[in-house]
Amino acid sequence: MTNLQSVKKFYLTTAIDYANGSPHIGHAYEKILADTIIRFKRLEGIECYFLTGLDEHGQKVAETAQKQSTLPQALCNRVADDFKNLCARLAVNYDDYIRTTEERHKVVVREVLQKLHDGGEIYRAEYAGLYSTRAERFVQEKDKIDGRWPDDIGEPIELKETNYFFRLSHYQGWLVDFLNKNQDFVVPAFRQKQVLEFLKEPINDLCISRPKSRLSWGIELPFDSEYVTYVWFDALVNYISAAGYGENRFEDYWPADYHIVGKDILVPAHSVYWPIMLHALEIPQPKHLFAHGWWLAKGGEKMSKSLGNSVQPLDYVDLYGADAFRFFLLREMIAGQDGNFSHDLFVSRYNGDLANDLGNLISRLTNMVGRYCSGKIPAPATEESLDQDIQESAQRLIQSVRMEYGKFAFHMGLEQIFDFVGRLNRYIEMRAPWQLAKQGDNSSVKLLNTTLSFVAKGVHIVAELLRPIMPKICVEILHRLGATITDTWENLSWATSLVGNEILSGEILFPKVEWGE
Ligand code: MSP
Repeated sequence: MTNLQSVKKFYLTTAIDYANGSPHIGHAYEKILADTIIRFKRLEGIECYFLTGLDEHGQKVAETAQKQSTLPQALCNRVADDFKNLCARLAVNYDDYIRTTEERHKVVVREVLQKLHDGGEIYRAEYAGLYSTRAERFVQEKDKIDGRWPDDIGEPIELKETNYFFRLSHYQGWLVDFLNKNQDFVVPAFRQKQVLEFLKEPINDLCISRPKSRLSWGIELPFDSEYVTYVWFDALVNYISAAGYGENRFEDYWPADYHIVGKDILVPAHSVYWPIMLHALEIPQPKHLFAHGWWLAKGGEKMSKSLGNSVQPLDYVDLYGADAFRFFLLREMIAGQDGNFSHDLFVSRYNGDLANDLGNLISRLTNMVGRYCSGKIPAPATEESLDQDIQESAQRLIQSVRMEYGKFAFHMGLEQIFDFVGRLNRYIEMRAPWQLAKQGDNSSVKLLNTTLSFVAKGVHIVAELLRPIMPKICVEILHRLGATITDTWENLSWATSLVGNEILSGEILFPKVEWGE
Protein backbone atom coordinates (compact mmCIF):
# COMPACT_ATOMS: atom_id res chain seq x y z
CA MET A 1 0.00 0.00 0.00
CA THR A 2 1.36 3.43 -0.88
CA ASN A 3 1.54 5.99 1.82
CA LEU A 4 0.20 9.17 0.25
CA GLN A 5 2.09 11.35 2.72
CA SER A 6 5.46 9.91 1.92
CA VAL A 7 8.00 11.44 -0.44
CA LYS A 8 10.86 9.50 -2.00
CA LYS A 9 13.89 10.75 -0.16
CA PHE A 10 17.32 11.41 -1.60
CA TYR A 11 18.93 8.30 -0.16
CA LEU A 12 22.70 8.37 0.21
CA THR A 13 24.93 5.73 1.72
CA THR A 14 28.63 5.38 2.52
CA ALA A 15 30.58 2.15 2.73
CA ILE A 16 30.22 0.51 6.11
CA ASP A 17 33.60 0.44 7.82
CA TYR A 18 35.35 -2.70 8.98
CA ALA A 19 35.14 -3.17 12.70
CA ASN A 20 38.73 -4.33 13.01
CA GLY A 21 40.66 -1.12 13.35
CA SER A 22 40.50 2.48 14.34
CA PRO A 23 39.12 5.26 12.15
CA HIS A 24 41.56 6.95 9.79
CA ILE A 25 41.51 9.73 7.24
CA GLY A 26 39.91 7.56 4.52
CA HIS A 27 36.93 6.83 6.74
CA ALA A 28 36.75 10.47 7.79
CA TYR A 29 36.88 11.74 4.21
CA GLU A 30 34.12 9.48 2.95
CA LYS A 31 31.80 10.49 5.79
CA ILE A 32 32.58 14.18 5.33
CA LEU A 33 31.98 13.97 1.59
CA ALA A 34 28.64 12.22 2.13
CA ASP A 35 27.60 14.61 4.90
CA THR A 36 28.46 17.60 2.72
CA ILE A 37 26.37 16.26 -0.15
CA ILE A 38 23.45 15.72 2.24
CA ARG A 39 23.74 19.20 3.76
CA PHE A 40 23.87 20.69 0.27
CA LYS A 41 20.81 18.73 -0.92
CA ARG A 42 18.88 19.77 2.19
CA LEU A 43 19.72 23.42 1.55
CA GLU A 44 18.42 22.85 -1.98
CA GLY A 45 15.11 21.87 -0.37
CA ILE A 46 15.40 18.12 -0.96
CA GLU A 47 14.35 15.59 1.66
CA CYS A 48 17.24 13.29 2.41
CA TYR A 49 18.21 10.12 4.19
CA PHE A 50 21.83 9.48 5.06
CA LEU A 51 23.01 6.01 6.04
CA THR A 52 26.37 4.87 7.31
CA GLY A 53 27.45 2.04 9.55
CA LEU A 54 29.80 -0.73 10.56
CA ASP A 55 30.72 -4.01 8.87
CA GLU A 56 31.13 -6.37 11.80
CA HIS A 57 31.41 -9.95 10.56
CA GLY A 58 34.15 -11.91 8.84
CA GLN A 59 37.52 -13.37 9.41
CA LYS A 60 39.42 -10.14 9.95
CA VAL A 61 37.18 -9.05 12.80
CA ALA A 62 37.29 -12.55 14.32
CA GLU A 63 41.11 -12.58 14.10
CA THR A 64 41.52 -9.10 15.56
CA ALA A 65 39.23 -10.01 18.47
CA GLN A 66 41.27 -13.14 19.09
CA LYS A 67 44.53 -11.19 19.06
CA GLN A 68 43.07 -8.77 21.57
CA SER A 69 41.77 -11.65 23.70
CA THR A 70 38.25 -10.38 23.47
CA LEU A 71 35.00 -11.56 21.92
CA PRO A 72 34.17 -10.33 18.41
CA GLN A 73 30.98 -8.65 19.61
CA ALA A 74 32.83 -6.83 22.38
CA LEU A 75 35.41 -5.62 19.84
CA CYS A 76 32.63 -4.43 17.51
CA ASN A 77 30.87 -2.56 20.31
CA ARG A 78 34.06 -0.71 21.13
CA VAL A 79 34.86 0.06 17.48
CA ALA A 80 31.27 1.20 16.86
CA ASP A 81 31.69 3.74 19.67
CA ASP A 82 34.95 4.97 18.12
CA PHE A 83 33.40 5.39 14.67
CA LYS A 84 30.27 7.07 15.99
CA ASN A 85 32.46 9.38 18.03
CA LEU A 86 34.44 10.21 14.89
CA CYS A 87 31.21 11.19 13.12
CA ALA A 88 30.10 13.35 16.04
CA ARG A 89 33.47 15.11 16.17
CA LEU A 90 33.43 15.73 12.41
CA ALA A 91 29.87 17.12 12.47
CA VAL A 92 28.75 14.22 10.31
CA ASN A 93 25.00 13.93 10.92
CA TYR A 94 23.81 10.58 9.65
CA ASP A 95 20.15 9.61 9.90
CA ASP A 96 20.84 5.96 10.54
CA TYR A 97 23.85 3.95 11.62
CA ILE A 98 23.55 0.28 10.74
CA ARG A 99 25.60 -2.43 12.36
CA THR A 100 25.59 -5.77 10.60
CA THR A 101 25.23 -7.66 13.90
CA GLU A 102 21.85 -6.01 14.50
CA GLU A 103 18.84 -8.27 14.23
CA ARG A 104 17.09 -5.95 11.73
CA HIS A 105 19.99 -6.57 9.35
CA LYS A 106 20.37 -10.31 9.94
CA VAL A 107 16.68 -10.89 9.26
CA VAL A 108 17.00 -9.33 5.80
CA VAL A 109 20.23 -11.18 4.97
CA ARG A 110 18.53 -14.50 5.78
CA GLU A 111 15.43 -13.53 3.81
CA VAL A 112 17.49 -12.60 0.77
CA LEU A 113 19.53 -15.80 0.97
CA GLN A 114 16.44 -17.95 1.29
CA LYS A 115 14.79 -16.23 -1.65
CA LEU A 116 17.83 -16.75 -3.87
CA HIS A 117 18.18 -20.35 -2.71
CA ASP A 118 14.50 -21.08 -3.39
CA GLY A 119 14.85 -19.52 -6.82
CA GLY A 120 17.78 -21.77 -7.70
CA GLU A 121 20.27 -18.91 -7.73
CA ILE A 122 22.40 -20.51 -5.02
CA TYR A 123 23.89 -24.00 -5.32
CA ARG A 124 26.23 -26.23 -3.29
CA ALA A 125 29.50 -27.40 -4.76
CA GLU A 126 33.01 -28.44 -3.95
CA TYR A 127 35.65 -25.98 -4.98
CA ALA A 128 39.39 -26.29 -4.90
CA GLY A 129 41.38 -23.16 -5.42
CA LEU A 130 43.59 -20.43 -4.07
CA TYR A 131 42.16 -18.65 -1.06
CA SER A 132 43.33 -15.27 0.18
CA THR A 133 42.84 -14.83 3.91
CA ARG A 134 43.58 -11.16 3.59
CA ALA A 135 40.94 -10.51 0.95
CA GLU A 136 38.68 -13.20 2.41
CA ARG A 137 37.91 -14.70 -0.99
CA PHE A 138 39.03 -17.24 -3.55
CA VAL A 139 41.39 -15.65 -6.02
CA GLN A 140 42.65 -16.55 -9.47
CA GLU A 141 45.95 -16.20 -11.30
CA LYS A 142 44.40 -13.29 -13.22
CA ASP A 143 44.20 -11.30 -9.94
CA LYS A 144 48.00 -11.05 -9.99
CA ILE A 145 49.44 -7.70 -10.96
CA ASP A 146 52.68 -7.86 -12.94
CA GLY A 147 52.96 -11.53 -12.02
CA ARG A 148 52.72 -10.84 -8.27
CA TRP A 149 49.93 -11.00 -5.71
CA PRO A 150 48.94 -7.45 -4.81
CA ASP A 151 48.99 -6.24 -1.20
CA ASP A 152 45.26 -6.53 -0.67
CA ILE A 153 45.43 -10.24 -1.56
CA GLY A 154 48.72 -11.32 0.02
CA GLU A 155 50.04 -14.87 -0.40
CA PRO A 156 47.01 -17.17 -0.99
CA ILE A 157 46.73 -20.75 0.27
CA GLU A 158 45.43 -23.89 -1.51
CA LEU A 159 41.98 -24.73 -0.24
CA LYS A 160 39.44 -27.43 -1.09
CA GLU A 161 36.03 -26.90 0.39
CA THR A 162 32.32 -27.52 -0.10
CA ASN A 163 30.49 -24.24 -0.17
CA TYR A 164 27.46 -22.42 -1.50
CA PHE A 165 27.75 -20.40 -4.69
CA PHE A 166 25.64 -17.60 -6.14
CA ARG A 167 25.16 -17.75 -9.93
CA LEU A 168 26.99 -14.53 -10.68
CA SER A 169 28.32 -15.65 -14.05
CA HIS A 170 24.80 -16.22 -15.33
CA TYR A 171 24.18 -12.47 -15.18
CA GLN A 172 27.40 -11.17 -16.69
CA GLY A 173 25.76 -10.43 -20.05
CA TRP A 174 22.85 -8.70 -18.38
CA LEU A 175 25.23 -6.49 -16.38
CA VAL A 176 27.25 -5.41 -19.42
CA ASP A 177 24.01 -4.55 -21.16
CA PHE A 178 22.75 -2.63 -18.15
CA LEU A 179 25.97 -0.60 -17.93
CA ASN A 180 25.85 0.20 -21.62
CA LYS A 181 22.29 1.43 -21.25
CA ASN A 182 23.06 3.41 -18.07
CA GLN A 183 26.28 5.17 -18.85
CA ASP A 184 26.24 7.28 -15.71
CA PHE A 185 25.60 4.37 -13.35
CA VAL A 186 29.17 4.60 -12.07
CA VAL A 187 30.53 8.09 -11.55
CA PRO A 188 33.07 9.43 -12.51
CA ALA A 189 32.79 8.05 -16.05
CA PHE A 190 36.33 6.63 -16.17
CA ARG A 191 35.40 4.29 -13.32
CA GLN A 192 32.48 2.88 -15.31
CA LYS A 193 35.00 2.08 -18.04
CA GLN A 194 37.08 0.16 -15.49
CA VAL A 195 34.06 -1.91 -14.58
CA LEU A 196 33.38 -2.73 -18.23
CA GLU A 197 37.04 -3.60 -18.67
CA PHE A 198 36.78 -6.05 -15.76
CA LEU A 199 33.72 -7.60 -17.37
CA LYS A 200 35.58 -8.38 -20.58
CA GLU A 201 36.91 -11.52 -18.86
CA PRO A 202 34.46 -14.22 -17.77
CA ILE A 203 33.49 -13.90 -14.10
CA ASN A 204 33.14 -16.81 -11.67
CA ASP A 205 30.16 -17.62 -9.52
CA LEU A 206 30.46 -16.08 -6.07
CA CYS A 207 31.21 -18.24 -3.06
CA ILE A 208 28.77 -16.85 -0.48
CA SER A 209 29.40 -19.19 2.45
CA ARG A 210 32.13 -20.09 4.90
CA PRO A 211 32.07 -23.38 6.81
CA LYS A 212 31.66 -22.76 10.53
CA SER A 213 34.55 -25.13 11.15
CA ARG A 214 36.78 -22.43 9.67
CA LEU A 215 34.88 -19.27 10.60
CA SER A 216 31.92 -18.98 12.91
CA TRP A 217 31.68 -15.19 13.18
CA GLY A 218 28.94 -14.48 10.65
CA ILE A 219 25.26 -14.82 9.84
CA GLU A 220 24.20 -18.45 9.68
CA LEU A 221 22.80 -19.58 6.34
CA PRO A 222 19.03 -20.15 6.69
CA PHE A 223 19.27 -23.39 4.71
CA ASP A 224 22.43 -24.91 6.25
CA SER A 225 23.41 -24.35 9.87
CA GLU A 226 26.96 -25.59 9.21
CA TYR A 227 27.78 -22.40 7.33
CA VAL A 228 27.87 -18.63 7.81
CA THR A 229 27.44 -15.98 5.12
CA TYR A 230 30.43 -14.54 3.28
CA VAL A 231 31.10 -11.08 4.73
CA TRP A 232 30.71 -9.13 1.48
CA PHE A 233 27.37 -10.71 0.69
CA ASP A 234 26.25 -9.83 4.22
CA ALA A 235 27.67 -6.30 4.15
CA LEU A 236 26.17 -5.17 0.83
CA VAL A 237 22.71 -6.04 2.05
CA ASN A 238 22.99 -3.23 4.65
CA TYR A 239 21.82 -0.74 2.03
CA ILE A 240 18.42 -2.39 1.85
CA SER A 241 18.12 -3.76 5.37
CA ALA A 242 18.52 -0.26 6.83
CA ALA A 243 15.95 1.08 4.37
CA GLY A 244 13.34 -1.39 5.58
CA TYR A 245 13.34 -3.97 2.78
CA GLY A 246 10.10 -5.88 3.03
CA GLU A 247 8.33 -3.02 4.83
CA ASN A 248 6.11 -0.29 3.37
CA ARG A 249 8.65 2.41 4.15
CA PHE A 250 11.17 0.81 1.75
CA GLU A 251 9.73 2.70 -1.19
CA ASP A 252 10.39 6.03 0.58
CA TYR A 253 14.10 5.33 0.22
CA TRP A 254 14.81 2.81 -2.47
CA PRO A 255 16.37 3.02 -5.04
CA ALA A 256 19.34 4.66 -3.37
CA ASP A 257 20.40 7.82 -5.20
CA TYR A 258 24.10 7.30 -4.55
CA HIS A 259 26.26 4.71 -2.91
CA ILE A 260 29.48 6.54 -2.03
CA VAL A 261 32.42 4.13 -1.93
CA GLY A 262 36.19 4.18 -2.28
CA LYS A 263 37.73 3.08 -5.57
CA ASP A 264 39.15 -0.08 -3.94
CA ILE A 265 35.71 -1.54 -3.26
CA LEU A 266 34.05 -0.57 -6.52
CA VAL A 267 35.14 -3.59 -8.57
CA PRO A 268 33.91 -6.25 -8.11
CA ALA A 269 31.92 -5.78 -4.88
CA HIS A 270 29.75 -2.73 -5.60
CA SER A 271 29.69 -2.72 -9.38
CA VAL A 272 29.38 -6.47 -10.03
CA TYR A 273 28.15 -8.42 -6.99
CA TRP A 274 25.68 -5.83 -5.79
CA PRO A 275 23.85 -5.02 -9.06
CA ILE A 276 23.61 -8.74 -9.82
CA MET A 277 22.33 -9.57 -6.33
CA LEU A 278 19.65 -6.90 -6.70
CA HIS A 279 18.75 -8.01 -10.19
CA ALA A 280 18.36 -11.63 -9.11
CA LEU A 281 16.14 -10.44 -6.26
CA GLU A 282 14.10 -8.28 -8.63
CA ILE A 283 14.95 -5.15 -6.66
CA PRO A 284 15.54 -1.97 -8.72
CA GLN A 285 19.13 -0.81 -9.15
CA PRO A 286 20.53 2.16 -7.23
CA LYS A 287 20.69 5.27 -9.40
CA HIS A 288 24.45 5.78 -9.10
CA LEU A 289 27.64 4.51 -7.52
CA PHE A 290 30.09 7.28 -6.79
CA ALA A 291 33.67 6.07 -6.39
CA HIS A 292 36.04 8.46 -4.68
CA GLY A 293 39.80 8.23 -4.78
CA TRP A 294 42.27 7.57 -2.01
CA TRP A 295 44.13 9.83 0.33
CA LEU A 296 47.78 9.01 -0.02
CA ALA A 297 50.75 10.09 2.04
CA LYS A 298 52.92 12.97 0.88
CA GLY A 299 55.05 11.12 -1.64
CA GLY A 300 52.00 9.40 -3.16
CA GLU A 301 52.49 6.22 -1.15
CA LYS A 302 49.74 4.34 0.64
CA MET A 303 49.13 5.40 4.23
CA SER A 304 49.66 2.72 6.80
CA LYS A 305 50.28 2.47 10.50
CA SER A 306 53.41 0.41 9.95
CA LEU A 307 54.95 3.07 7.70
CA GLY A 308 54.08 5.68 10.31
CA ASN A 309 52.63 7.99 7.66
CA SER A 310 48.94 7.74 8.49
CA VAL A 311 46.96 10.80 9.43
CA GLN A 312 44.86 10.78 12.57
CA PRO A 313 41.73 12.79 11.81
CA LEU A 314 41.02 13.58 15.44
CA ASP A 315 44.45 15.18 15.94
CA TYR A 316 43.45 17.75 13.34
CA VAL A 317 39.97 18.19 14.74
CA ASP A 318 41.40 18.75 18.23
CA LEU A 319 43.76 21.46 17.07
CA TYR A 320 42.07 23.15 14.15
CA GLY A 321 38.41 22.22 14.57
CA ALA A 322 36.13 20.04 12.46
CA ASP A 323 35.24 22.84 10.05
CA ALA A 324 38.83 23.50 9.04
CA PHE A 325 39.52 19.78 8.57
CA ARG A 326 36.39 19.32 6.47
CA PHE A 327 37.34 22.36 4.42
CA PHE A 328 40.82 21.05 3.74
CA LEU A 329 39.73 17.58 2.66
CA LEU A 330 37.12 18.91 0.27
CA ARG A 331 39.28 21.74 -1.05
CA GLU A 332 42.30 19.55 -1.78
CA MET A 333 40.70 16.38 -3.15
CA ILE A 334 39.19 16.40 -6.60
CA ALA A 335 36.24 14.13 -5.85
CA GLY A 336 36.83 10.89 -7.73
CA GLN A 337 40.63 11.21 -7.90
CA ASP A 338 43.41 10.48 -5.43
CA GLY A 339 44.82 13.22 -3.24
CA ASN A 340 48.03 13.63 -1.27
CA PHE A 341 47.77 14.65 2.33
CA SER A 342 50.53 16.88 3.49
CA HIS A 343 50.67 18.61 6.82
CA ASP A 344 52.45 21.61 5.29
CA LEU A 345 49.69 22.03 2.76
CA PHE A 346 47.11 21.79 5.51
CA VAL A 347 48.81 24.52 7.49
CA SER A 348 49.23 26.74 4.47
CA ARG A 349 45.53 26.41 3.53
CA TYR A 350 44.51 27.00 7.12
CA ASN A 351 46.67 30.07 7.53
CA GLY A 352 46.08 31.37 4.02
CA ASP A 353 42.47 30.75 3.06
CA LEU A 354 40.90 30.49 6.48
CA ALA A 355 42.85 32.63 8.95
CA ASN A 356 44.15 35.36 6.65
CA ASP A 357 41.54 35.64 3.93
CA LEU A 358 38.21 34.68 5.47
CA GLY A 359 39.02 35.27 9.13
CA ASN A 360 40.50 38.71 8.49
CA LEU A 361 37.66 39.72 6.21
CA ILE A 362 35.17 39.06 8.97
CA SER A 363 37.15 40.76 11.68
CA ARG A 364 37.74 43.80 9.47
CA LEU A 365 34.05 44.03 8.71
CA THR A 366 33.11 43.70 12.37
CA ASN A 367 35.66 46.29 13.47
CA MET A 368 34.74 48.83 10.81
CA VAL A 369 30.99 48.52 11.30
CA GLY A 370 31.64 48.93 15.03
CA ARG A 371 33.87 51.94 14.59
CA TYR A 372 32.18 53.82 11.77
CA CYS A 373 28.52 52.76 11.95
CA SER A 374 27.85 52.27 15.69
CA GLY A 375 27.84 48.51 15.22
CA LYS A 376 24.88 48.41 12.83
CA ILE A 377 25.11 47.30 9.21
CA PRO A 378 24.50 50.43 7.13
CA ALA A 379 22.23 50.83 4.11
CA PRO A 380 24.00 51.24 0.76
CA ALA A 381 23.83 54.85 -0.29
CA THR A 382 25.37 55.24 -3.70
CA GLU A 383 26.68 52.79 -6.27
CA GLU A 384 29.67 53.00 -8.54
CA SER A 385 30.89 50.42 -11.01
CA LEU A 386 33.19 48.89 -8.40
CA ASP A 387 30.17 48.18 -6.20
CA GLN A 388 28.17 46.86 -9.11
CA ASP A 389 30.99 44.47 -9.94
CA ILE A 390 30.87 43.04 -6.44
CA GLN A 391 27.13 42.64 -6.66
CA GLU A 392 27.32 40.90 -10.03
CA SER A 393 30.10 38.55 -9.03
CA ALA A 394 28.19 37.60 -5.87
CA GLN A 395 25.15 36.71 -7.94
CA ARG A 396 27.21 34.71 -10.40
CA LEU A 397 28.93 32.97 -7.51
CA ILE A 398 25.66 31.72 -6.05
CA GLN A 399 24.71 30.11 -9.36
CA SER A 400 28.03 28.58 -10.17
CA VAL A 401 28.81 27.21 -6.70
CA ARG A 402 25.42 25.51 -6.58
CA MET A 403 26.17 24.01 -9.97
CA GLU A 404 29.61 22.74 -8.90
CA TYR A 405 28.26 21.28 -5.66
CA GLY A 406 25.55 19.55 -7.69
CA LYS A 407 28.34 17.74 -9.55
CA PHE A 408 30.11 16.98 -6.22
CA ALA A 409 32.93 19.25 -7.45
CA PHE A 410 33.35 20.78 -4.01
CA HIS A 411 36.97 21.71 -4.72
CA MET A 412 35.76 23.91 -7.59
CA GLY A 413 32.99 25.51 -5.56
CA LEU A 414 35.47 26.28 -2.78
CA GLU A 415 37.99 27.72 -5.17
CA GLN A 416 35.36 30.12 -6.51
CA ILE A 417 34.18 31.11 -3.03
CA PHE A 418 37.72 31.92 -1.92
CA ASP A 419 38.36 33.90 -5.11
CA PHE A 420 35.37 35.96 -4.13
CA VAL A 421 36.68 36.33 -0.56
CA GLY A 422 39.90 37.68 -2.07
CA ARG A 423 37.85 40.07 -4.17
CA LEU A 424 36.02 41.37 -1.11
CA ASN A 425 39.34 41.97 0.64
CA ARG A 426 40.64 43.88 -2.37
CA TYR A 427 37.40 45.85 -2.56
CA ILE A 428 37.97 47.00 1.02
CA GLU A 429 41.55 47.97 0.25
CA MET A 430 40.59 49.92 -2.86
CA ARG A 431 37.85 51.79 -1.04
CA ALA A 432 39.89 52.27 2.13
CA PRO A 433 36.90 52.94 4.41
CA TRP A 434 39.28 54.30 7.08
CA GLN A 435 40.14 57.17 4.75
CA LEU A 436 36.54 57.75 3.75
CA ALA A 437 35.68 58.00 7.44
CA LYS A 438 38.50 60.48 7.97
CA GLN A 439 37.33 62.62 5.04
CA GLY A 440 33.85 62.63 6.58
CA ASP A 441 32.10 64.59 3.81
CA ASN A 442 28.69 63.53 2.54
CA SER A 443 29.84 61.62 -0.52
CA SER A 444 32.64 59.84 1.37
CA VAL A 445 30.20 58.72 4.04
CA LYS A 446 27.85 57.45 1.35
CA LEU A 447 30.62 55.42 -0.24
CA LEU A 448 31.71 54.14 3.16
CA ASN A 449 28.17 52.93 3.88
CA THR A 450 27.86 51.22 0.51
CA THR A 451 31.19 49.50 0.93
CA LEU A 452 30.47 48.12 4.40
CA SER A 453 26.94 47.20 3.44
CA PHE A 454 28.18 45.30 0.38
CA VAL A 455 30.97 43.56 2.25
CA ALA A 456 28.40 42.40 4.81
CA LYS A 457 26.19 41.06 2.02
CA GLY A 458 29.18 39.37 0.42
CA VAL A 459 30.19 37.72 3.70
CA HIS A 460 26.61 36.61 4.17
CA ILE A 461 26.62 34.85 0.81
CA VAL A 462 30.03 33.30 1.47
CA ALA A 463 28.86 31.97 4.85
CA GLU A 464 25.73 30.52 3.26
CA LEU A 465 27.65 28.83 0.46
CA LEU A 466 30.15 27.38 2.90
CA ARG A 467 27.47 25.92 5.15
CA PRO A 468 27.55 22.37 3.71
CA ILE A 469 31.31 22.22 4.23
CA MET A 470 31.85 24.23 7.42
CA PRO A 471 28.52 23.88 9.22
CA LYS A 472 29.46 25.15 12.67
CA ILE A 473 31.54 28.16 11.78
CA CYS A 474 29.09 29.35 9.13
CA VAL A 475 26.23 29.39 11.59
CA GLU A 476 28.47 31.42 13.90
CA ILE A 477 29.27 33.89 11.10
CA LEU A 478 25.60 34.21 10.16
CA HIS A 479 24.79 34.77 13.81
CA ARG A 480 27.38 37.55 14.04
CA LEU A 481 25.78 39.23 11.01
CA GLY A 482 22.35 38.99 12.62
CA ALA A 483 21.22 36.99 9.58
CA THR A 484 18.30 34.60 9.73
CA ILE A 485 19.42 30.97 9.57
CA THR A 486 17.16 29.41 7.00
CA ASP A 487 16.54 25.73 6.34
CA THR A 488 16.96 26.11 2.60
CA TRP A 489 18.58 28.34 0.01
CA GLU A 490 15.24 29.16 -1.57
CA ASN A 491 15.72 32.86 -0.88
CA LEU A 492 19.48 33.00 -1.09
CA SER A 493 20.29 36.10 -3.10
CA TRP A 494 22.00 39.43 -3.05
CA ALA A 495 18.59 40.97 -2.37
CA THR A 496 18.53 39.72 1.24
CA SER A 497 18.77 42.78 3.45
CA LEU A 498 20.99 42.94 6.51
CA VAL A 499 20.50 46.67 6.99
CA GLY A 500 20.24 47.72 10.61
CA ASN A 501 21.41 44.36 11.97
CA GLU A 502 23.68 44.68 14.93
CA ILE A 503 26.99 43.05 14.13
CA LEU A 504 28.46 40.95 16.90
CA SER A 505 32.11 40.50 17.60
CA GLY A 506 33.44 37.29 19.03
CA GLU A 507 36.45 35.09 19.38
CA ILE A 508 38.87 34.82 16.47
CA LEU A 509 37.35 32.28 14.09
CA PHE A 510 40.56 30.70 12.87
CA PRO A 511 43.25 31.27 15.49
CA LYS A 512 46.87 30.63 14.53
CA VAL A 513 47.84 27.24 15.89
CA GLU A 514 51.20 25.75 16.73
CA TRP A 515 51.41 22.10 15.69
CA GLY A 516 53.64 20.45 18.17
CA GLU A 517 54.00 17.60 20.54
N1 MSP B 1 33.74 -2.98 5.01
C1 MSP B 1 34.12 -2.68 3.67
C2 MSP B 1 33.02 -1.94 2.95
C3 MSP B 1 31.69 -2.64 2.90
S1 MSP B 1 30.47 -1.65 2.11
C4 MSP B 1 29.15 -2.65 1.95
C5 MSP B 1 35.38 -1.79 3.68
N2 MSP B 1 35.66 -1.17 4.84
S2 MSP B 1 36.95 -0.26 5.09
O1 MSP B 1 36.90 0.15 6.47
O2 MSP B 1 38.14 -0.93 4.67
O3 MSP B 1 36.82 0.99 4.14
C6 MSP B 1 35.71 1.85 4.27
C7 MSP B 1 35.79 2.95 3.24
O4 MSP B 1 36.93 3.77 3.49
C8 MSP B 1 35.93 2.41 1.81
O5 MSP B 1 35.06 3.07 0.92
C9 MSP B 1 37.38 2.72 1.49
O6 MSP B 1 37.61 2.97 0.12
C10 MSP B 1 37.60 3.99 2.28
N3 MSP B 1 39.02 4.23 2.48
C11 MSP B 1 39.89 3.48 3.20
N4 MSP B 1 41.13 4.04 3.11
C12 MSP B 1 41.08 5.14 2.31
C13 MSP B 1 41.97 6.20 1.99
N5 MSP B 1 43.24 6.19 2.36
N6 MSP B 1 41.46 7.26 1.32
C14 MSP B 1 40.13 7.37 1.02
N7 MSP B 1 39.27 6.42 1.34
C15 MSP B 1 39.75 5.15 1.69
O7 MSP B 1 36.02 -1.68 2.67
